[in-house]
Amino acid sequence: METILKEKNQSNKQMPLIELGGINDAAKQSIPYKINSLEKNIANGHDKYLLQIQNRRYLGNKYKLLSLLKEIVKQKCDDFCSICDIFAGTGVVGHAFNSRSIKIISNELLFSNYISLYAWLSPESYDKTKIEDVLSQLNTIKADKDNYVSENFGNRYFSLDNARKIGQIRESIEKMSLSPKEKSILLTSLLYAMDKSANTCGHYDAFRKNLDMISPIKLLLPDIKQEINESNEVFNEDANKLIRTIEADILYIDPPYNSRQYSDTYHLLENIIRWEKPTVYGKAKKMNRSNLKSMYCGKEATKAFYDLIMNAKCKYVLFSYNNMFDKGNARSNARIKDKTIIEILEKRGKVEIFEQNYKPFSTGKSRTEDHAERVFFCSIRHKT
Ligand SMILES: C[S@@+](CC[C@H](N)C(=O)[O-])C[C@H]1O[C@@H](n2cnc3c(N)ncnc32)[C@H](O)[C@@H]1O
Repeated sequence: METILKEKNQSNKQMPLIELGGINDAAKQSIPYKINSLEKNIANGHDKYLLQIQNRRYLGNKYKLLSLLKEIVKQKCDDFCSICDIFAGTGVVGHAFNSRSIKIISNELLFSNYISLYAWLSPESYDKTKIEDVLSQLNTIKADKDNYVSENFGNRYFSLDNARKIGQIRESIEKMSLSPKEKSILLTSLLYAMDKSANTCGHYDAFRKNLDMISPIKLLLPDIKQEINESNEVFNEDANKLIRTIEADILYIDPPYNSRQYSDTYHLLENIIRWEKPTVYGKAKKMNRSNLKSMYCGKEATKAFYDLIMNAKCKYVLFSYNNMFDKGNARSNARIKDKTIIEILEKRGKVEIFEQNYKPFSTGKSRTEDHAERVFFCSIRHKT
């Protein structure tokens, strides 16, 4: 893959901006999830009845950025055997680097994402035949009575039939005798099935007026590459707390970059996976999320980032952040200025910036030109 290096005046500092050739072609190949995740699986040579980790809509997921990330690691990182994906979301980044010789440490604040990361990446072994049997059993459930999900989310985020079935499947999983890995796999299958049948544009701030997602919910088997998960670790912690206790050769940092809290956007999935059946409020039927707020969405974002970088025990940092500072509407604007990012990273080592043009996320009507997803790369001066 050809690499073009060019100098660009970036935030009052001369930083090398590196564009990697071929990235756009690779990005074009990833068919949008909406078309049909099963078609996409076939196109990628996967079994159409198996779920792949990327078969999920998730704001800010880096599936389309994987070629760039891999290229940066290939060109810039020598001699590494562990990667920490500390704001893992769907986990696609850690998953893309997962191999027998590379340990993947994944971490997420949201419990629903942690459960999914645990299913895809944890080393705990499981009985695949048992999972297949339970999934077929759960798929035949006939649900005609109301439950927590149908009462709160039926005829809103899901058709009434699907909401009743989701509620009953979730309750059945709760009552089964399962190992943590088995439970996480079944819940992950349910999480992906809910995403596919939700009457939304991919997040849960609102549902569509016309209830058009009526095809029956179906649980699929996640295609887990268990044989390469042996040395991995999965955490459900605040990144700034975890950073003090872990070490990894490469630290990948992909925090929220604007004021939108992921716990607001994905409250419904978090609620159903947690299954504490809290009271929900307002039109969007959100639960209390006060203990799930991220500092990276607030005024403390810069302070949190500084603390994270200063406490990182690694050889290399890859930091994904978009260039939306003062470009989108107020809620879409990035929290940390480029100049500040560079100053903070430079305290630990040499910084370079890589970029790939990207479709902006803004729910407002404003169009934002020149939007790019950037990766700030820092080669740490001394391993602390
Ligand atoms: C931009 S998304 C990451 C997307 C991910 N790289 C992917 O490809 O799916 C940011 C994630 O950070 C999580 N998060 C926010 N604050 C956090 C914190 N303090 N510690 C750990 N995770 C956090 C959010 O829940 C969200 O899933």
